[in-house]
Amino acid sequence: MTSQRPTTSDEIRETFLGFFEAQGSRRLASASLVPAQHDPSVLLTTAGMHPLKPYFLGAEQPPSRRLTSCQKCFRTPDIDNVGVTARHLTFFEMLGNFSIGDYFKREAIAFAWKLSTEGFGFDPEKIWVTVFGGDEGLGLGVDQESIDFWLEVGVPRERIVELGREDNFWQAGPNGPCGPCTELYLDRGPAYGAATKPGEDESDRFMEFWNLVLMQYDQTTHEDGTSTLVPLPANSIDTGMGLNRMAMLLQGKETIFETDQFAPLIALAEELSGKTYESGDEAADRAMRILADHTRGMTFLISDGVVPSNEDRGYVLRRLMRRAVVQGRRIGIEGEFLGRFLDAVVATMGAAYPEIAERREEIRTWVTAEEQGFGRTLVQGSALLDELLAKGEVSGADAFRLHDTFGFPVELTTEIAGERGIAWTGQDEFDRLMTEQRERSKAGSRRGDHGGAAAGSIAHLVAEEPTAFTGYEHLEEHTTVAGVLEQGGKTYLKLAESPFYAEGGGQVSDAGSIVLEDGGEAARVVGVVRAGDDQAIVVEPASGVTGGASGQDVDLRSGQRVVARVDRRARHATQCNHTATHLLHAALRERLGDHVHQAGSAVRPDKLRFDFSHPSKLTPEDLRWVEDRVNEQILQNQPVRALTMPIDQAKALGAMALFGEKYGDVVRMVEIGDGSFSRELCGGTHVRSTAEIGVFKITSEGSSSANVRRVEAITGPVAIDLLRERDGLLDEIADAAKVPAAQVVERIAKLREQAKSGAGKALPAVDEGALAAEAVELGGVPVVVARVEGVTPKDLPAIADRVKGQLGGAGAVVLAAPSDDKVALVVAVDPDVVARGVKAGDVVKVAAGVVGGGGGGKPTMAQAGGKDPAKTDDALRAAHDAIAAVLG
Ligand code: ALA
Repeated sequence: MTSQRPTTSDEIRETFLGFFEAQGSRRLASASLVPAQHDPSVLLTTAGMHPLKPYFLGAEQPPSRRLTSCQKCFRTPDIDNVGVTARHLTFFEMLGNFSIGDYFKREAIAFAWKLSTEGFGFDPEKIWVTVFGGDEGLGLGVDQESIDFWLEVGVPRERIVELGREDNFWQAGPNGPCGPCTELYLDRGPAYGAATKPGEDESDRFMEFWNLVLMQYDQTTHEDGTSTLVPLPANSIDTGMGLNRMAMLLQGKETIFETDQFAPLIALAEELSGKTYESGDEAADRAMRILADHTRGMTFLISDGVVPSNEDRGYVLRRLMRRAVVQGRRIGIEGEFLGRFLDAVVATMGAAYPEIAERREEIRTWVTAEEQGFGRTLVQGSALLDELLAKGEVSGADAFRLHDTFGFPVELTTEIAGERGIAWTGQDEFDRLMTEQRERSKAGSRRGDHGGAAAGSIAHLVAEEPTAFTGYEHLEEHTTVAGVLEQGGKTYLKLAESPFYAEGGGQVSDAGSIVLEDGGEAARVVGVVRAGDDQAIVVEPASGVTGGASGQDVDLRSGQRVVARVDRRARHATQCNHTATHLLHAALRERLGDHVHQAGSAVRPDKLRFDFSHPSKLTPEDLRWVEDRVNEQILQNQPVRALTMPIDQAKALGAMALFGEKYGDVVRMVEIGDGSFSRELCGGTHVRSTAEIGVFKITSEGSSSANVRRVEAITGPVAIDLLRERDGLLDEIADAAKVPAAQVVERIAKLREQAKSGAGKALPAVDEGALAAEAVELGGVPVVVARVEGVTPKDLPAIADRVKGQLGGAGAVVLAAPSDDKVALVVAVDPDVVARGVKAGDVVKVAAGVVGGGGGGKPTMAQAGGKDPAKTDDALRAAHDAIAAVLG
C-alpha cells in the first residue's frame, strides 16, 4: 500500500486492489460490459458482482474464495441524469472486494474501516455508516451484528444510522443473490447541505462512497410483487465503491467532471466549441458533461463488441452517440468530432484499459459511420419534425415514425418538442408501438431447446461431482449413471463421464445413445444441457427398445453401468463446420479488416452460420476471395490443435476471444497450422487437420441486424451433395431448352428476346409498381404518363388499369406502346378525376392526333392507334399537357 494518500484515479484503483490482494484476495481483470451468456437478465454489466453471480449461487467454482476487481459498469437508467447532477454517469468503474463463502460481516467491516482510514486517509471522525434497520415484508429484523462490528472497529453508536429496505437492502435485479447492506459515508461539512446524518435529505453533505452487501439470499420475485428469499449456499460479501466518486472526494472537487478522468474531455469540449466551462451558461455546462460521459461510454461499449443498431445494447450505444452529436452541435461544435473525443478517452484511460488503445481505429470506423449517418438523419428528421411541431402536437405514432423511418431517437423528439413548448403526450403509445415491433421481430425466432429455466434445477441434479466431459478424446464411454431427473415431461440424465458435447460456443449438442453395459439400447440422447461447468443429458426412450423381456422402456437408474455413444457421423460433420467457421472468421478479418468480430454462430452437422460485425454487404468478389482463402487452408492440410494455457499467454499469442463470453484464468485455444492464420479461444470440438473438411462453399450472405452480416456455408459431403444437385438441375434445364448445358445461358437470352418482341406468347414484362412510382402530381392528382415496351395493344388497357390501382389515390394513367410501324395508346382515368373534367376520350384524341391516328372510348378508359411511332414522346407530352390544362 502506498503510504501517501492516493489522489489520481489510477492510484485509487491500485490502492484498493493492492489492499485486498494483501488480504489474500485474487485480483480479477474487469469482465466485459456485455454480460456473459449465463446472465440474460441485464443488457450490460451494472455492478462488480455481475460476472461473479454463478459463484455466489454455487453454480460454478470461483478461482479463489477471496476476490477483488475493478469492473467496467454501465447504468442505462442514469442516462437522463448525466450532466444534471454532480455525480451521475453511464459508464464508470466499480471497485469491489468479494468473499464467496469465506469471510463475512466482521472482516468485511474491518477491511472497509482500515482501507478508508489508513489507505485513503479519511478522517475517522468524518465517516458515518448506515446499516439495515429491518423490514417486515422481508421478514427480517435490524442487522445488529453489523452494528456490533462497527462498534468493534471504533465507530461511535451515534454515527451508525439504521435505514430501511429502500436504502440498505441490495439486489442486482428482481431475482438472484442479494442481502442487507451497510454503507460508508463521508461528511463533507455543513457547507454541502443541512442534513445532520446520512439518509436525511438528498443533499451532498453526506456522500456515500462504499456499499458493503452482506449476501445471504437468493431472491425470487413473484408476479404479485412479493418475494421469497432462500439462503445462499454460503454467506458471502459483495462490495462496490465508485472509482470516480472517490476521485472527486480525494481530489477535493465539487463534481466528478472536474476529476482527472474527465477534465481533459471537458477541456476538449471547450476547445472545439470556443465556450468556457462554468462561465454561467448552465446549458453549455450540461452539454459538455454529457459529451464527456457519453463519449467514454461509446468508446468502452464499442471496444467490448457492441455495434450501433436499433435493438438492445446497440440502441443504447446509438443513443449515446446521437445525444453526444446533438449536444456538441448545440454548443457550436462543427463538423465531425466524436473521433476527437475517442482520442481523448484513449489518452486518459488507455493505460488502464489497453483494449481501447488496441481497438482505437476499429472504434473510429463505427463512430464515424454513425456520426455521418446521423448527420443525414438529422436533416431529414428535422424537416418532418418541424412540420409536426407546426401542428402544435407530437403524438406517439409520430415519434414512432420518426424513430422507425429516420432513426430519430424518441428522446430527441421529446426534447426538441419540449424546448419549443409543445406538449408531448405520446410516450405510452410510443412504447406500445415499440413493443409491438419488437414482438414482431422476435416472433418465430425463439428457440425451443432445453436450456433456460431447466438449467437452474439441473444444477442441483447431482451436484456432488460434476460430470467429467471426455468428448474431446472419446466418442464412446463406459460409465455410470450418476442421477436421473424427471421434469417438465423430460428425462434428464447425469453421467459420471460423458463423451457428449453440451451446446455451447455456437456448436450444437451431440446426438447419440445410451446402451446398457449388459446389452440393449436404453435411450436416445436428444439434447445436452450446460449448467455452469456441469452438464445433463436429455434422453428419450429408444424406439423399438430391446431391453426388458416384455419389450417395455428400459428404466435408467442411478448406479447403472452404461455405454454412452456419440453419433459419429453427425459429430464429424459438426467438427468440419466448426473448424471451417474459424477459417471463415480469419479469412473475413483478413479481407474486410479487424472490425470484424463474431456476433453469433451456429455450428451444426448440416451447415454453419456465422454472424459478424460489418457495416455493408459483401461484394461477390469478397465472397469469392473468402471462399478461396478458406479452401486454400483446407488444401494445405493444416493440423488443428487445442492447447490449454493461461489466458494471458493466449492473449499474448493474439488468440481471438469472443465478446460476451466469460473466460477463466486457464483457457483452451484452438490453433490452425502454425497459428498465424487462426487462433481462437474455443471450447468446441474440431477436426484434426483441415483436409478433413474436404471443401467449403458459401451458400448465402445477408444481413442479420443493423451492422451485422450473416454468412451461411456448407462443407464436405453436404457441399458435394449441393454441387451434385445443381449439376442435375442444370442438366434438366439444358434438356428443357434443348441445347447442351454450355449453351443454356445464350438460349435463355434468345427466348427472352423473342418474348419481348411479341413473337412469343410470353407475358408482357411491365413493372406496374415502378410505373406507379413515377407518377407526377398535377393539381393534387397522381398522373402517370409513360412509354412501355414489348407489350401488345390488347394487353394495354389491363396494364393501365393495374397501374392506376397502384397509385396512392384517385389518378390517371396514359400509356403508349410503340412497335416498328405503329403505336398503341391508352388512357385510364379514375371516376373522381373524371368528375374534375379529365375525360379519357378527349385526352386520347389529342395524343392520337400527334401520331397520325384516331380513336376514342369512355370517359374512364379510351384507346387509340397511330402510325408514327417516332412521335411517341410528343404524343405523350401532348396528353400530359391536356390533363394539366384541365387540372391546372
Ligand atoms: N453490488 C453492490 C452495488 O452495486 C455493491 O452497489
